Amino acid sequence: MEGYAFARVVHILGVVLWIGGVAMVTTVLIPAIKRLKSEEEQVSTFEMIEGRFALQARVTTLLTGLSGFYMLYYTDGWSRYTDVSFWWLHAMTIGWVMFMLILFVLEPLVLHRLFMERAKKDPVRTLAFVHRFHVVALALSLVTIAGSVAGSHGWLWV
Ligand code: HEM
Repeated sequence: MEGYAFARVVHILGVVLWIGGVAMVTTVLIPAIKRLKSEEEQVSTFEMIEGRFALQARVTTLLTGLSGFYMLYYTDGWSRYTDVSFWWLHAMTIGWVMFMLILFVLEPLVLHRLFMERAKKDPVRTLAFVHRFHVVALALSLVTIAGSVAGSHGWLWV
């Protein structure tokens, strides 16, 4: 049981540092960066801050996934994937896979280069697009967190 409780602690610390960071970037940093006068400065400031957050996001995403799968292994809860009332488990897993893809594959291989190319041509629209992307990712993450807390404490909704 201690192993399970420890995994849960790691899981939630991971979620807090990861999605909390996404929230900070979305609701505070990007809006503040958009108000900077120089467009070049907007892009370079975003690059610097998001670049630093990328490491935190990678480590916490890994810890969240590992602890999540450990909890499923510990409780032998794999059959939950076949039950629609555990939609929040599907949401956690799909959200996690998407973030893993972005952070470990797409960002280093494609997205970073694409961002720099587009930002050179049209910094304002590029930052606006990146902001919208963060808003959607944050909204989906918050729905997932709400559903997971409610669901894992017995409020299943369906
Ligand atoms: C591979 C990905 C993941 C797996 C396998 C996983 C698995 C789990 C499991 C097994 C539980 C315990 C459920 C229960 O007690 O009945 C849990 C709880 C939870 N997970 Fe995940 N999870 C994953 C990713 C995520 C992500 C991406 C988020 C946030 C965006 C998240 C947020 C939560 C929350 C908030 C709880 C509820 C904790 C509580 O109320 O005590 N998980 N997860």
